[in-house]
Amino acid sequence: MGAALAAPLVLRRAPLRTGRLRLAAAADATRRRIAWVCPTLGALGCLEQREEAVPPVGDDECLVAVRAIGLNYADVFMVLGLYEAFNKYLEENPGQAVPGFEFAGDVIEAGKAVTTHKVGDRVYGFTRFGAYRTSVVVREKMLQPVPKAWSYAEAASVLVQGLTAWHGLVELGAAKRGSRVLVHSAAGGVGCAALEICENLGCTSVGVVGSIDKVPFLKERYPSCTPLVRGPERQYARQLEDLGGSYDVVLESLGGQFLTAALERVAPMGRLVHFGATAAYGGSRVDGLFKWLKLIPSYLRRPLVDPGAMVPKNVALFGFNLVWLTDREEELTRELEEMLGRGGLGKRPPAVGRSFPFAELPSALDWLRSGNSVGKVVVTVEPGAGGEVG
Ligand SMILES: NC(=O)c1ccc[n+]([C@@H]2O[C@H](COP(=O)([O-])OP(=O)(O)OC[C@H]3O[C@@H](n4cnc5c(N)ncnc54)[C@H](OP(=O)(O)O)[C@@H]3O)[C@@H](O)[C@H]2O)c1
Repeated sequence: MGAALAAPLVLRRAPLRTGRLRLAAAADATRRRIAWVCPTLGALGCLEQREEAVPPVGDDECLVAVRAIGLNYADVFMVLGLYEAFNKYLEENPGQAVPGFEFAGDVIEAGKAVTTHKVGDRVYGFTRFGAYRTSVVVREKMLQPVPKAWSYAEAASVLVQGLTAWHGLVELGAAKRGSRVLVHSAAGGVGCAALEICENLGCTSVGVVGSIDKVPFLKERYPSCTPLVRGPERQYARQLEDLGGSYDVVLESLGGQFLTAALERVAPMGRLVHFGATAAYGGSRVDGLFKWLKLIPSYLRRPLVDPGAMVPKNVALFGFNLVWLTDREEELTRELEEMLGRGGLGKRPPAVGRSFPFAELPSALDWLRSGNSVGKVVVTVEPGAGGEVG
């Protein structure tokens, strides 16, 4: 997405817990929008709002007035400076990197060559960074129509976490009917998508959560899933042993000893797919330099895997980052179609846990960072908040 920003005007710094902002400043200007920008990285308080010009819309692009933004745990890592691809993006866009992968809204302008969407269509979509805006310019290929019964918030909740779950579970994990699946952080965004896919494919699942408070949510939405409330890292191997059984696929996003313990429970010909390290590196409420000091013990205790030991056990270990796939459009589109079709993610609206207004976006990120959220955390944008073509 273009980043041709004309004379950005700083509106205000991140209000982590404070009230609503006044967006009217941007709404009266033609082709202006509001963005949450990271001039520097290291703390959620680095985020600040700016008014900026909407870049010109290319022939194969649409301008979308954003109505909802889907947050991902990766966004927390981005703002804290722990997400390599975003660090690079900031280097390329000094002082004006905007986080965010996904959004939903209304097409308000379509390029000359656009064939699949028209002005007025409700769409949801993906952008490689830059979604924390009241409007976005994206290629039409990155947009999908919002199903009639879905809200904007629901539509902004499906792409990234759904594709992560699909890629890990099916593309790499080779899950199929009858597979036994262990899902870490099962009540979170990726976790919910994974359980949804498990139900649709006919897999049995154990959903691991960090708190008993999340169990009622899991039981209500995914009754076929067996919940497991994990204790501290050192007890996890024992907990899995007590539960018994082994797994054909493990979706692992906690890191540290949680990975090591889960790897022990992988069945012969099974796969552990590692794609996050929330327990090892997430959650710290310490920002800035001290954050790095807090990360050192986790780094020193990181799991060391002996590939030789995996041979007699016939197990595989995968790692992936979805951001890599975003350069491979055909692959991404194919996986998206399969996820919505065979994976059944389009059948019912995704689970939205909590919504925050655009003005309180840093508080939404802070809620996601707390580890207490269930389902998707969404930020909603009021109509007329900026980005309209006047
Ligand atoms: N590699 C990729 O391409 C890719 C793409 C998307 C997401 N991810 C990863 O997948 C994981 C889930 O992402 P998501 O966006 O769906 O987030 P999420 O699961 O909705 O939220 C994160 C969850 O992590 C768990 N957690 C464990 N230790 C934590 C800590 N110390 N602080 C905060 N949370 C902690 C919490 O659940 P419990 O306590 O219940 O476990 C929390 O709810 C993350 O690790 C993320 O980085 C990777």
